[in-house]
Amino acid sequence: MKIAVTSASGKLGASITKHLIQEIGNENIIGIARTPEKAKHLGVEIRQGDYNKRQDFDKALQGIDAVLLVSGMDEPQKRIQQHRNVIDAAKQNGVQKIVYTSIVGNEDRTAFSPVVKSNRQTEKDIQESGLQWVIGRNGIYIEPDLEYIDNYVKEGGIKNCAGDGKCAYTSREELGYAYAQLLLDENNQNKVYNLVGNAITQVELAHLINQVYGTNLTYYPMSVEAYENERKQALGDFLGTIIAGIYEGIKIGANDVSSDFEKATGRPHKTPLDMIQEIKNANI
Ligand SMILES: NC(=O)c1ccc[n+]([C@@H]2O[C@H](COP(=O)([O-])OP(=O)(O)OC[C@H]3O[C@@H](n4cnc5c(N)ncnc54)[C@H](OP(=O)(O)O)[C@@H]3O)[C@@H](O)[C@H]2O)c1
Repeated sequence: MKIAVTSASGKLGASITKHLIQEIGNENIIGIARTPEKAKHLGVEIRQGDYNKRQDFDKALQGIDAVLLVSGMDEPQKRIQQHRNVIDAAKQNGVQKIVYTSIVGNEDRTAFSPVVKSNRQTEKDIQESGLQWVIGRNGIYIEPDLEYIDNYVKEGGIKNCAGDGKCAYTSREELGYAYAQLLLDENNQNKVYNLVGNAITQVELAHLINQVYGTNLTYYPMSVEAYENERKQALGDFLGTIIAGIYEGIKIGANDVSSDFEKATGRPHKTPLDMIQEIKNANI
C-alpha cells in the first residue's frame, strides 16, 4: 500500500510522515510538497505538488492508494478550489482513500469562521467524492504558545480575548500519530473525528506553562475589539483578524469540544501537561 502526504514540507505533514515511517518504514510513503527541497530531509520519495496546480497532483498521485490532504494556508475561498484539485486528481488517478486534516471551530460567529467554513466545504467535497474517507478536525496546536513564552514574559503575561472559554488543544506530534493510524487502519472509514485533548482555560494554560517552564505568567483577558486591534497592528489585517477570531471562538465555547482521539486511534490523547513537558524536553 502506497501512502502520500501533501504539504510534507510543513510541520504537520512532516510529523505525519515521521509517524508513518515508524509504522511501515519509508519505502511505501511519498511526500508531496510545493517546495520539494524543504521535504528531502524526511528520507522518503518526494514529488512536486502545489495545490494551485491540478496537473502536479495528476502526476504525484500516480500509483498511490491513500492520500493525506493537509489543509492549505491560503485565504478561505482559494482553499476550496485548491483542495478540489487534490480530490479530483485522487478520483481520476485510482486513489482509494483520502484523509483530510480539517479544524474544530465555529462556522459563522467569529472572524475565524470563514476559514472554518471553507474547511467544512472541503469536508463535504470529500464526503461526496465517492472515495473512502476519514476527516480529522484538529484542535488548536499548543506549540505556538510555547514558542511565544519569551514574548509572554516580556509582555507581562498571556493577553487575549478568550476570557473564561475552554480550549481543547492538541499538538502536531499527537496529530502525526493520529493521522498515521487513520491512514493505515482499513476499518476506519467514513468518519469525522475531533482530534483534541482535554479542554483548558487560559488561566489553566498559564499555570501549566509556569509549572513546566518555571515562569510566572498571569492571564489577562481583553475585549475582542481591543485584542483584534492589537493583533492587526502586530501582524497585519489578514493574520491579525484571524488570530483574534480564533480566540473569540475559544471565548464562545467553539473549541470546548469532546475528544474522539481515543476512538480514532486506540489510545487516549496526551494531557496538556504531558504535551507541554514533552515539547520542552524536545527543545532542550
Ligand atoms: N490547528 C492549528 O492550530 C493550526 C495552526 C496553523 C495552521 N493550521 C492549519 O494546518 C495546516 C498545517 O499546519 P503546519 O503546522 O504544517 O503549517 P506550516 O508548518 O506552516 O506548513 C504549511 C505547509 O503548507 C504548504 N503550502 C502552503 N501553500 C501551499 C500550496 N499552494 N500548495 C501546497 N502546499 C502549500 C507549505 O509549503 P511550502 O513549504 O512550500 O511553503 C507548508 O508545507 C496549515 O496549512 C493550516 O491549514 C492549523
